[in-house]
Amino acid sequence: MIEDLWYKNAVIYSLDLETFMDLNGDGIGDFEGLNRRLDYLHTLGVDTIWLAPFQPTPNHDNGYDIKDYYGVDPRHGSSGTFVEFMHQARRRGIKVIIDLVVNHTSDQHPWFQEARSDENSKYRDWYVWSKERPSDWDKGMVFPGVQEATWTYDKKAKAYYFHRFYKFQPDLNMDNPEVRNEIRRIIGYWLEMGVAGFRVDAVPFILETPAAGKASPELRFEYLREFRRFLQWRKGDAILLGEANVLPKESQRYFGDEGNGIHMMFNFYVNQRVFYALATADISPLIEAMKSTRGLFPTSQWANFLRNHDELDLGRLTEEQRQKVFARFGPEKNMQLYDRGIRRRLAPMLGNRRQSELAYSLMFSLPGTPVIRYGDEIGMGDDLSLKERNAVRTPMQWSPDPQAGFSEADELIHPIINEGPYAYRHVNVERQTREPDSLLNWMVKLIRLRKECPEIGWGEWEILETGRPEVLAMLYTWQESSLVVIHNFDEKAYEITIQVNDSPDRELNELLVEEKVIGDKKGNYKITMQAYGYRWFRASNLSEMIHRGQK
Ligand code: NOJ
Repeated sequence: MIEDLWYKNAVIYSLDLETFMDLNGDGIGDFEGLNRRLDYLHTLGVDTIWLAPFQPTPNHDNGYDIKDYYGVDPRHGSSGTFVEFMHQARRRGIKVIIDLVVNHTSDQHPWFQEARSDENSKYRDWYVWSKERPSDWDKGMVFPGVQEATWTYDKKAKAYYFHRFYKFQPDLNMDNPEVRNEIRRIIGYWLEMGVAGFRVDAVPFILETPAAGKASPELRFEYLREFRRFLQWRKGDAILLGEANVLPKESQRYFGDEGNGIHMMFNFYVNQRVFYALATADISPLIEAMKSTRGLFPTSQWANFLRNHDELDLGRLTEEQRQKVFARFGPEKNMQLYDRGIRRRLAPMLGNRRQSELAYSLMFSLPGTPVIRYGDEIGMGDDLSLKERNAVRTPMQWSPDPQAGFSEADELIHPIINEGPYAYRHVNVERQTREPDSLLNWMVKLIRLRKECPEIGWGEWEILETGRPEVLAMLYTWQESSLVVIHNFDEKAYEITIQVNDSPDRELNELLVEEKVIGDKKGNYKITMQAYGYRWFRASNLSEMIHRGQK
C-alpha cells in the first residue's frame, strides 16, 4: 500500500539540540529543553523531527565529529533524557530521525587514537593511510578556502591519513568489512532506541574508496544496499534519507534498482534552481530540474528544503546562474562561502514576507517531502559575524525575554541575534503566536494544507502550460483527486490560462481562500496571479468533499 509509505507525506522539522532550548541553564540546548518544546512542534503540525548529531563530540564541526556512536553528549543530557524524549515524541505521534555520520569519525575517537598509535592494532585498517605524501594531497577539499588538504601527516602514525572534510575528521575505510559491520551495529542500536530512520551524512563520500593519487574514486553502491537491507530487516518502515548533492542521472544509482538503495534524498538539484527562479523569475531551469529528477520507483522519494544548517550550495548551477543568485541574495563577500554558497538564512536573503510565502508554498508543493529548518517558521535572521556556517546556527528565538527565552545563562553556545530587524525582541515565537497574521501562524496553515493534500506525496504530477516564463503550474492526481498549484515568481501580476482536462465539474476550488474559478467547456481556466502570488486548487467533486471532511 502506497499509503504505508509515511515518509512520502511527512513534514520534517530539522533542529540542532545545541541551539533549540536550554533547560539546565548552561547555555547549551538539551533534551529536557527540547521536551518542553514538543507541544510547540506538535501544534506547528510537524510529524517528524530530524535531530542533528547529539553524540559525544569535541564539537569542532557542529557535532559532525563523533567520538562515541553509542552515547549522548553530556552537554545535551544522557541516555536517560534521550529515551524520555523519544517517549514524549511518540506520545504526540512524532517520529524521530537522527544523523548517521559514518563517513568519518572525530580524530578523538578511540578507534583513531588506537589506529595512529599502533600499526598492528586492528583499528589501523579502519582508516585510510599512505606512507608517502600522495600527489593529490591538496585536492578534493569540501571546504575550499578553509580546509587545506585531504591528506594530513600524523606524527604518531608516521603516515598520512585521508580526510574528505576537515583534518580532525579522518575517513573510515568502508572497504573493511569490520567497519561496515560496526555501522550496522550503530544502525541497529539506534533503531532499538526507537528512531524511525537516519539522515545519512555525506553519502557519496561513504561509498567512495579513496586511495593515494586516485582522483575520482569509484563508488560502491553495494554498501548502500547492504545498509538498506539490514535496516529494513530490523525495522520494516524505517528509512534512510541521504545527503548527496549529485546530478540527476547519478541520483538514480543512489535510489537503486527497484528502490533497493536509499529511500529518500535531498533534492539539491531542484533546490538550487528554486533559488535561481526566486532571484530571476525565470522558471525554465527549475522545470528542467523537476523533469530530470522525476520517474522514481514508487518507494523512493525526494526531500525538498529551502535552507539547512549548511551554506546554500549553488555549486550545481552554471557560473552565470550562480552569479545572478549571488547578486540577488548574497552580494557581499562575507555572505558567500567555499566559492559556491551563501551563508544566510532565508528571511534576510529574500527580504520580504511575500516572497518568503511564495518560497515556502512552492517548496511544500514540489514533488517530495518538505523539510523545514528550526527558526525559519518565524523568519529568523543570521549573524554574519560568526564564522563559516555558524552564521545560520544561532539559538531559537522563543520570546522577548533575555536570551530570547532560550537559556538563563549569560554565555551561550552561539550568541542570540539582538540587533537589527531580526533581533529576538521583534522576531520570536511568543509574539508570533499572538499575531493572527504572523509568519508562524501562516506556516501552521501551510503545514495543515500540505497534510490535506496527499496527492503530492503519493500521486502523479505534470507541469501545466501557463504561457508565462514566470508562472509555474503543477497538476497532481491521486486516486480520484486532483490538485492544481500555481506560483508566480514575478513582482508583477499576470492573468494566465491553464488547461485541466480531468476536471468534470469545470470548477477549481481554491483551498487557502474562498474562491472558485470556472472553466470553459474545453477545461480552460483563466486565473489571475498577483505579484509573487501562490494559489492551491482542488479540481474534482470527490476531492472537494474529502477536503471538507465529508468523506
Ligand atoms: C555534511 C553536513 O551537513 C555538514 O554540516 C558537515 O560539516 C559535513 N557533512 C561533514 O560531516
